[in-house]
This record gives sequence, C-alpha cells and structure tokens, in this order.
Amino acid sequence: MFKINENYLKLPGSYLFSTIAKKQREYKSIHKDANLISLGIGDVTLPLADAVTKAMHKAVDEMSDQSTFKGYAPELGYEFLRKAILENDFKNRGVDLDLDEIFISDGAKSDSGNIGDIFSIDNKIAVCDPVYPVYVDTNAMSGRCGDYLADLERWSNVIYMPCTKETNFAPELPKEEPDIIYLCFPNNPTGATINKDELQKWVDYALKVGACIIYDAAYEAYISEEDVPHSIYECEGAKACAIEIRSFSKNAGFTGTRLGYTIVPKELKKGDVSLRDLWARRHGTKFNGAPYIIQKAGEAVYSKEGKEETKKQVAYYMENARIIREELKSAGYNCSGGINAPYIWLETPNGMTSWEFFDLLLEKANVVGTPGSGFGPSGEGYFRLTAFGSRENTIEALNRIKKI
Ligand SMILES: Cc1ncc(COP(=O)(O)O)c(C=O)c1O
Repeated sequence: MFKINENYLKLPGSYLFSTIAKKQREYKSIHKDANLISLGIGDVTLPLADAVTKAMHKAVDEMSDQSTFKGYAPELGYEFLRKAILENDFKNRGVDLDLDEIFISDGAKSDSGNIGDIFSIDNKIAVCDPVYPVYVDTNAMSGRCGDYLADLERWSNVIYMPCTKETNFAPELPKEEPDIIYLCFPNNPTGATINKDELQKWVDYALKVGACIIYDAAYEAYISEEDVPHSIYECEGAKACAIEIRSFSKNAGFTGTRLGYTIVPKELKKGDVSLRDLWARRHGTKFNGAPYIIQKAGEAVYSKEGKEETKKQVAYYMENARIIREELKSAGYNCSGGINAPYIWLETPNGMTSWEFFDLLLEKANVVGTPGSGFGPSGEGYFRLTAFGSRENTIEALNRIKKI
C-alpha cells in the first residue's frame, strides 16, 4: 500500500497569496464597483521587449523548418545562452566561470526549491526572517525543517535570522551554526541589500564553519548603488562555498515565459565530492531543459537592443518605487527598500498588525498589498508594496493611501 510524504501534512495553511486573493474576491463580491489596485504580488506588468519577442518569433520559424528544428536542449542549456550569461553577468564584473558551471533552468523558484535535492536531510538551514517562502516550504517538504510550531509560526529545526529595523533589515551571523544558509539580495520582501564588505563576512563565515550559501540574486538588475555586489562571486572565496541562483523574470519580464539559471562552481566540494557534479546529475535526470525558443529569447536580453529595452523596463519600475517611497514618506510612513529593489517595506501605522493594515488599505483605499507577517514572524507590523504596477495605478494607489 502506498504511503504519502507526510512532510506535506506539516505545511501550514494556505499560501499567502491565496489568502490575499480570497480576501480580494470576497471584497469584490460585496463591493462590485470597487476599482481595486494591486501593488501586492511580485509579478511584472510590462510586455516583453521587442528584441525578445523578435528572437522568439525567429526561433518559432526555425522550429518549423526541418533544417533548423531543435529537439531536446543540451542538458546544461544551449551554449549560446550560457556564453551570453558568462560575458554579460559575470565577466564584466571581474568574475570568471567555466561554461559548465552554468545550468539553464525554467526559473529561480524551481532552482531554489530543487537545490535541496543534492543535500542530506540532516542539514540544518538558516533563513532570513522575513523570507521568500519557497526556501522554507521546500525544505519542509523534504523533511529538513522538523515540526511546524503554529503558535510561534516557526519550524522547530530551522535557524531564523531576524531582519529588523535594528539590523537594517539584513541578517546577522547566527549564533547557532547552520549547514546551509539562504541569502537573497536585493531582498524580497524587504527590498534591503548589503554591501560587498558585508557579503564578504558571510562568505568568510560560511568558509569557516563549512556551510553552503544558497544566494538568490533574482533582483540583481535593480541594484543602483555602487557598493552593492551583483553576484556573490565578487567576494573572495565564494566559489568554494556558494551557489548562486538567477532569474530572467524581473530583469526582463519572463515571469510567464520562464527562464533562469544556477551557478554551481567546481570549487564547491564536500571532501572530494563536487556539488557541481551532483547538480549536473540531478539536472540531467529530473529536468529536460528550457525550450529552445525561450533560451533564444534569453539570449536576446543580452543583445544591444535587448539590454537597452530591459534597462528601460527596470527604470520604469524603479520610478514607481521612487514614487511609492516618497509619497509614503510624505504621508508620514516609515518605509525602506525601493532603492536597489522593486519592493517597498513599510511599517504599519499605530501598531497595527500586518493583516489589520491589509484590511484597512483594502477597505479605505481599495489598494491591495502584502502583509509582512506572511513572510515570517519578524515581518509582523510591516507591509510590502511592489513597484511592478502601471505608473497610472501606482500614482492613483498612493493618492488613495495618502487620503486615509
Ligand atoms: C527571491 C525570489 N526568488 C525567486 C523568485 C522566482 O523567480 P522565477 O520567476 O525565476 O521562478 C522570486 C519571485 O518572486 C523571488 O522573489
């Protein structure tokens, strides 16, 4: 008789965004004429760049021609894309990698969830609190997190690193030694970043205690300040202790198109076992490649036109971020983020809980955001607004918020 993976039964209730969607639906069913504006979910709204869709069209035509048709993609991804990544995302920042350290995937969510496959269940993970929920939930699914303690809103076997106002929303080195450390900068949900010296401290720490850092750089394109590292491999020694995950979702609008990549350097070893080889084995066995058409679209992101157009998209969102930040500040809110990230993290007024503030915004401003507590206990009392809306909606939403 079959048995299920009982770890799934330990996962707490419904996913944050399902709860938000449900509340939104309920509100709409009562207030049918309400014009709700969502600055909640982290999805992009601008269409793909012309250079990208042109490359896709061309690739579609190639697929309909016997002489240029492509079947399964190479296991690591097409070399044209891995070369473009190496040249544009790493070499120009002084980071050299071998092409076979780059693994093309269908996005950062799957990679950050799947990477746990190559680690023993016995590893103890450390995560930022608040955190992008995928890291914790996927570890819980594989049985690495212990039990969920509902009253504390925590897992019994996870090291939580609070990211609070007091720590500038960055984690401090944990007192208890972790085996795997998840870091995400620029951060979702807080929009915080750390500079290169601070990241170097994490690399030094990981090397000292023998931990592996999973570095999620999905928002790298939003970095505007000079001393913020774009890749963890800008830090000395990082290739021996870190895996980096990247996405085409937020820099080029591929949320629905699906493309990402992960770097597992050959230097990253446990004894004489290479993590790169384990990931190659996993990737080749459980994944059959991102589509050729999409990898061609990804290559086009690095073309001259692609770079210009995607840069404009990021600038558009960052102007939204500026508007949100400045309007909130002028209305007396304490907020941070929005400088190197498309997320603004605001303190709820008058000691309201995150969900109380959610309800207030929904009812009084018809604006939907994301309660900070949904990202972890240290997110309580905070609220996330995203810069991914249209300019018009962003301005209208802030006008309404200011009137509350
Ligand atoms: C921190 C972080 N990592 C990964 C992802 C998912 O990226 P992708 O669309 O490439 O799966 C997101 C999406 O919101 C994110 O916020």
